[in-house]
Amino acid sequence: MSTHATPDSQHTSRSGGGPPSDGPLSDGPPDDGLPGDGLPGAALLAGAVPIVVLVSGSGTNLQALLDAATVASYGVRVVAVGADRHGIEGLARAERAGVPTFVERVTDHPDRSGWDAALTTRVAGFAPRLVVGAGFMRILGPAFLAAFSDRVINTHPALLPSFPGAHAVRDAVAYGVAVTGCTCHLVDAGVDTGPIIAQRAVEVLPADTEGSLHERIKVLERAMLVECVGRMAREGYVVDGRRVYVGSGGGPHRAADKVETTRLA
Ligand code: GRF
Repeated sequence: MSTHATPDSQHTSRSGGGPPSDGPLSDGPPDDGLPGDGLPGAALLAGAVPIVVLVSGSGTNLQALLDAATVASYGVRVVAVGADRHGIEGLARAERAGVPTFVERVTDHPDRSGWDAALTTRVAGFAPRLVVGAGFMRILGPAFLAAFSDRVINTHPALLPSFPGAHAVRDAVAYGVAVTGCTCHLVDAGVDTGPIIAQRAVEVLPADTEGSLHERIKVLERAMLVECVGRMAREGYVVDGRRVYVGSGGGPHRAADKVETTRLA
């Protein structure tokens, strides 16, 4: 089991154990009952959890995070946006929001491990508490995952473990499923195999194309990602094997293990 917190990052591991009393993420709005309400906005923003967002494309999920982060009580600050390619709308969105950007292209390095090391150094330079893959179309390497163990979140446009990989929506349509959706998960060494944080279901309509279905998924995906990142940042989280418990607030896990309730913020 790992607990995640700032300012003093704390990791504790064990196996087994049941869920905390308040369970996994709820469907509540991201600004419900936030800690720190009533404090001046500037003070809240100064204490907001720094995150780096990685993108490869249009960046609508990034935009949802940037928009949420303009509200002080969301408790998250996007300190940088990184990409694996130039000229994408995701980078333009960050620039318009006044957020620093960087690009690390795989092809600019002699091999994959060189890219992995460079990306790790770049991101670590911003000292994020969380890293969010928001449509980032690269497999993160071992150096990166070691540096940000259990702190990398990804969003995927399918109900994992169904349809992992780069063509999840196309694969779901081709398979003929009646329901698909999106998944927010921690990133591990596999392809879309990390512990699941939250999922949302989307019905597949008879006339759906890959494009129409993906657009409907993305509406829910953006809200899910904003909620996951916000709650993990504000309330902390516990990773216990394949389960991620957000905001357990000293539930059975912690009482049993004498693990202190901690916060990322
Ligand atoms: C999202 O559906 C993401 O899950 C997938 O690509 C899409 C990115 O959309 N990998 P955007 O760039 O955030 O608009």
